Amino acid sequence: MHLVTSFVSQIVALMLLSLNLGFPGSVAGQNGADHGIDFSYQSHNELVVLLHQIAWKCRSITRLYDIGRSVQGRRLYVLEMSDNPGVHEVGEAEFKYVANMHGNEATGRQLLIFLAQYLCEEYTKKNKRIQKLINSTRIHLLPTMNPDGFEMAYRRHVVMGRVPSMYGRGNANNVDLNRDFPDLNDIMYKHEQTGGANNHLLQLIRENKEGRQPETQAIMDWMAQYPFVLSANMHDGDLVANYPYDKSRNTRKMYSATPDDNLFRELALTYSLYHRTMATRAEPCRFQGAKVFRDGVTNGADWYIVSGGMQDYNYLSSNCFDITLELGCDKFPREEELKRKWEDNRESLIEYIDKVHIGIKGQVMDTDRNPIANAVIRVTGPSIAHDVTTATDGDYWRLLLPGVYTVTVHARGYKPKTVVVPVRRYRPTKANFILKPLPKESSGCKLRQLEEEGYLLGGFRAALRQFGFLGDDCDGLVERREDVLASMEDTTASP
Ligand SMILES: *[C@@H]1O[C@H](CO)[C@@H](O)[C@H](O)[C@H]1NC(C)=O
Ligand SMILES: [Zn+2]
Repeated sequence: MHLVTSFVSQIVALMLLSLNLGFPGSVAGQNGADHGIDFSYQSHNELVVLLHQIAWKCRSITRLYDIGRSVQGRRLYVLEMSDNPGVHEVGEAEFKYVANMHGNEATGRQLLIFLAQYLCEEYTKKNKRIQKLINSTRIHLLPTMNPDGFEMAYRRHVVMGRVPSMYGRGNANNVDLNRDFPDLNDIMYKHEQTGGANNHLLQLIRENKEGRQPETQAIMDWMAQYPFVLSANMHDGDLVANYPYDKSRNTRKMYSATPDDNLFRELALTYSLYHRTMATRAEPCRFQGAKVFRDGVTNGADWYIVSGGMQDYNYLSSNCFDITLELGCDKFPREEELKRKWEDNRESLIEYIDKVHIGIKGQVMDTDRNPIANAVIRVTGPSIAHDVTTATDGDYWRLLLPGVYTVTVHARGYKPKTVVVPVRRYRPTKANFILKPLPKESSGCKLRQLEEEGYLLGGFRAALRQFGFLGDDCDGLVERREDVLASMEDTTASP
């Protein structure tokens, strides 16, 4: 995508780099340098130059691409970091960080730039831990989802030194992007009554992009294109790691657990406990109703309700598990604080990415070793009522806490398969599945099924058996009794 443009801008970036214009390090010292990182804010254009510089400097492990444009036409850039950038390797887990969806919440945007520079530098210095992380993970960093809102807030910041609390929050149409995603919670809560699914619900709503903001659409398309496994989105205004659901079963705020509640708590705790102050601070933020969160984590709807948010959308529409990080009380911190922010968050940022490597993963294939896409991975014991599906290459990832799980794979036209899988703490257990096709729906099988269910009378049955009408290899059809009975009714009704 945009290969030529990207190449040209890399050349431009390289020229700027050699002129030492705005290159990280050139003004270092002012806010304290570390890994060549300049701990200051950038305008959108400066950010773009900086991203190109990082991408050029670490070109063997990065790719810079965009996922669309904002209302005012600014590109939404993603920096990918991986040992084979631009390629989804079979079995390689994909991770994303999304920052600055509220344009006036600036910390995450800066942290992702610092993180990219840190990873680039440490990989080059052959830091084992960072090399291992980048070699085994495809990391996507979107520093700003709302560049228009940021630009507004940033100009105010430059002139006034501070930004009013809602100024630049929305996009250029003044829409809050974290209320602009399809609301799948209502469907899911309804399904809780009727026994319907609680995952991959997007297909149930038509016109799902109608009237949505371009930034929201860009994220939705992006999520449909990449098999993300784990992510976080970054905000400011408090200091806490927030996990789904953000929307409760009614309009009151209350703890609203997903079927993966234990896992989500652990994911959020990973961030808060590795953070230097999130889990341990004593003072709440200074605004009406602020509180200190136990261990620095909270269920979303237990705090306040969000409808149409990105976090719940991830869980209910895709295979991706997303949490929301509130990175500080001050939405647009003073520049002098950025270095400390980075130090507070550095370990959390890295350890959280590494959580993409827990649970089970593998590939689902047919007996000829062809990958089966969209197979359903279901954890049945202990039951976690939230399925994930295989990606295009038949590969899947199911994040799980340590334990022993019964896992069943279903795919249309194949016999389901069940295995028992132990899950350990620090690396994923591999579980590949070879699925056998269901036997053709021979009339013999149908008849035998009817026989088993007591529909065939003695003499008739004996005759059918004698003439070989009762097939033998009919395993797997048992699951579809309703189909058989339905087709039997059809046959009876036809002349
Ligand atoms: C990561 O991959 C690179 C390139 O293939 C290789 O040189 C390096 O040794 C790997 N590092 C680790 C820690 O796996
Ligand atoms: Zn926010």
